[in-house]
Amino acid sequence: MATSDWLAAFEKTAAAIGAWEPSSAATLSALDAVRIDFLGRNGRLTEVLKGLKDLPLEDRKLYGPKAQSARAELEGRIAARKAALESHRDLSLEKSGVDVTLPASPALRGRLHPVTLMMGEMTRVLGLMGYSLAEGPLVETDWHNFEALNIPAHHPARDAHDTFYLKDLPTLLRTHTSPVQVRTMEKTKPPLKIVCPGRAFRRDAVDASHSAVFYQMECLAVGHGITFADLKGTLEVFMRTLLGSSTRIRFRPSFFPFTEPSAEVDVSCLLCGGQGSGGGGKGCSACKQSGWVELLGAGVVNPAVFKLVGLDPEEWTGFAFGIGIERLAMMKYRIPDIRLFYENDLRFLDQFDEDIL
Ligand code: DAH
Repeated sequence: MATSDWLAAFEKTAAAIGAWEPSSAATLSALDAVRIDFLGRNGRLTEVLKGLKDLPLEDRKLYGPKAQSARAELEGRIAARKAALESHRDLSLEKSGVDVTLPASPALRGRLHPVTLMMGEMTRVLGLMGYSLAEGPLVETDWHNFEALNIPAHHPARDAHDTFYLKDLPTLLRTHTSPVQVRTMEKTKPPLKIVCPGRAFRRDAVDASHSAVFYQMECLAVGHGITFADLKGTLEVFMRTLLGSSTRIRFRPSFFPFTEPSAEVDVSCLLCGGQGSGGGGKGCSACKQSGWVELLGAGVVNPAVFKLVGLDPEEWTGFAFGIGIERLAMMKYRIPDIRLFYENDLRFLDQFDEDIL
C-alpha cells in the first residue's frame, strides 16, 4: 500500500475518533458498540493498524507511534467513559436503596368467600339437575314467611324471641329462605323447579354454631305425581355430586308445617367416613361419634300450602328442602366455628380458592 493511501485512511479514522464525544454514549452497551466500531477485530482503527506492516520501514517508524498513540488515546477515553457510566449506575442504586436483585413482591389477588364458593357449587349442581335460580326479598311479609307456609299464629317460630320484627308490622327479616317457595308458586304456574340461596336472620345468641345472620338454600320442585322417592333420589344425587360418591344419606321423621311427611336428613360424616371413630381413639368430634351429621330439613309439600298459594292440591304435588350453607361448608372444609366466616380475618379467608372446589 502506498504511504499516501494509508495516511489518508489513518487521518480519516483519526478525524472520526476526534469527533466522537464520549458523553454521547449513554449506556454501557452503546459505549461497547463504539469500541467494536473502532477497535474490534475488523474495526476501523484496527484495519489502519494492520495496514502499517505494508509500509516501507522508514514510514513505519514515522507513523507507527502516531497510530499507536491514537489507539491508546481512544482506549483511554473509552475506559474513562465506562468508569463514569458504571459509577453513575452504582451511585443511583445506592441512593435509591433499592435492591433490584430481590424478587418482586407478589400482587394481592382477591378471592371468593368460602360461603360464596359453597353457595356457587350447590346452585351449580342443582342447575345441572334442571333447577333455575329464584330470589326473594330479605325483608319479608308475615304472610310469605309464616302464614302461607302453614305456620300458624301460635307457632313458636313466630315468637319475638326468634324473629326480628320490623317497626312497620307485619314485616320482618326472613327467618328462612322458604318464603321464596311461596313467592314462586304465587307467580309461576307449575311444573317448576327452583333453587334459592340467600341470607336468613334469627334472634339467636352468637356462638360456635349459631349466627344471627346466616345463609340457607331452598329447593322446590312442583309437578304431577312427584313423590317422596323423587326427594330421596334428588338429595342422593345432589349430596354425592357435592361431597363425593361414597356419601350416604339417611332420613329421620320430623315435623315442618309446610311439608307432610317431613324429614330431617343426615349425611355420612365426611371427616370419619361415617365410622364415628378417629380423633386418636377419642372418636370423631365432628359427628359426635355417630358417623352422621344433620344437614337439612325436607319433605313433601303440604297440600295446605298449595291451597294457600292458590294451587289445586288434587292436581299438584311436590317436594322441598332447605339447607344451611355455612353448616355444609364447615363440614366440607373442616371449619370448627361459624364465626370465622364473618370476622374477615385474611389469614382464614386466604386459604380458600376456587381451585380447591
Ligand atoms: N325452612 C326450614 C328451616 O329453616 C328448613 C326447611 C325444612 C326447608 C323443610 C324446607 C323443608 O324447604 O321442606 O328450618
